[in-house]
Amino acid sequence: MSESVEELLARNAQLVEEFTREHLPQEGVPRVLWESVVYGATGGKKLRASLLFATAQAYGIPEEKVLPLAAGIEMIHSFSLVHDDLPCMDNDDFRRGKPSLHKAFGEAMGVLAGDALLVEGLRMFVNNREFLKTFGTRKVTAVTQVLLEALGNQGMVGGQVLDLLYQGKEVTEREVFEIYLRKTARFIQAPILCGGILGGASRKERRLLSRFGLLLGECFQIKDDILDVTQESTRLGKTAGKDLVQGKATLVRVQGISKAEKVMHHLFEEACQILASLPRDFATLLALSRFVITRAY
Ligand code: IPE
Ligand code: IPE
Ligand code: MG
Ligand code: MG
Ligand code: MG
Repeated sequence: MSESVEELLARNAQLVEEFTREHLPQEGVPRVLWESVVYGATGGKKLRASLLFATAQAYGIPEEKVLPLAAGIEMIHSFSLVHDDLPCMDNDDFRRGKPSLHKAFGEAMGVLAGDALLVEGLRMFVNNREFLKTFGTRKVTAVTQVLLEALGNQGMVGGQVLDLLYQGKEVTEREVFEIYLRKTARFIQAPILCGGILGGASRKERRLLSRFGLLLGECFQIKDDILDVTQESTRLGKTAGKDLVQGKATLVRVQGISKAEKVMHHLFEEACQILASLPRDFATLLALSRFVITRAY
C-alpha cells in the first residue's frame, strides 16, 4: 500500500528532528539554551522540509543529501513561530500541542532561543561539509541567498511588521495579500525554489517553480486563517479563534470564509497548472500541495 501524505510528513518530520538533535552543537552551550532550542525545533508538520524533499526528488536528489538544508529551514521556521508567540507579538501560550517556548522557559529564552534557532538553522547547512561537497559553493550560496531574501525586511520580518501594523485596521484584499506574500508565502516558496536550484533547474524552470511556490504559500496562509476560525485548538495544537479577537488582517475577515475558500481554490488551480507545465514528475509535490488546502491542522 502506498504511503499517505500524513504518513510521509510524519516520516520526514522524524528524519529532520533526529538530524537536528544530532547535529546541534552542545559543547560549551548553556544547557537551558540547548534544551529550549530543541524544544522549539520539535513538533509541527515539517511541511517546508517535505516541500524541499519533494522538489529535490523530482530532480533525482535523495532526501539524505538535502537533509541539512531541510533541518535548517525547519529550525528557521521554528524561530519565526517562537517569536510570533511572544507576548509582544501574537501572545499565544500554546504551540504544537504544548506550552509555547516562552511559557515553558520564560520570555527572555523565548527571544534568545528564537535568535538561536535562526542562526543555528543557517549554520546547519552552511557549515555542513558533506552538503558543501555534494552541491558546491555556488549552489549553497544561491540557496542561502534565497532563504535570506525570503526572511529579511522584504520577506518574513517585513510581513510580520505589516501584520502588526494592520492589526485592528480596516484593510483591503490587496493589503491582506501584501502581508501574506511577505510573512508566509516567500518562506513556503523558498524550499521549493531551493530544491530546484540544487537540482540544477533551468532559469525558466526556476521562474515557474517560484511562481508555483508563491501561490502555494498564499493558499497556505489563507488555509491557516480559515482553520483559525473553523478548527479546535486541540486539533490545531495552537489557540484557535485568536485572529478575530486580535483584529488580524485576514482574508476571512475581509471576505468571509466561503469567499476566502473560493479565492484559495482559484489560486490553487493556477498553481497546479504551472506545476503541470513543468516537464518533470512532481507527483509528491502535488500531493503535498493538495494537503495544504485540505488539511485539518
Ligand atoms: C504556522 O506554520 C505558521 C504560519 C506560517 C501560518 P505551520 O502550520 O507550518 O506550523 P507547524 O510547523 O506545522 O507547527
Ligand atoms: C505567522 O502567522 C506567520 C509567521 C511568520 C510565523 P500566524 O500568526 O497566523 O501563525 P500562527 O497561526 O500563530 O501559527
Ligand atoms: Mg502572527
Ligand atoms: Mg500567530
Ligand atoms: Mg494563524
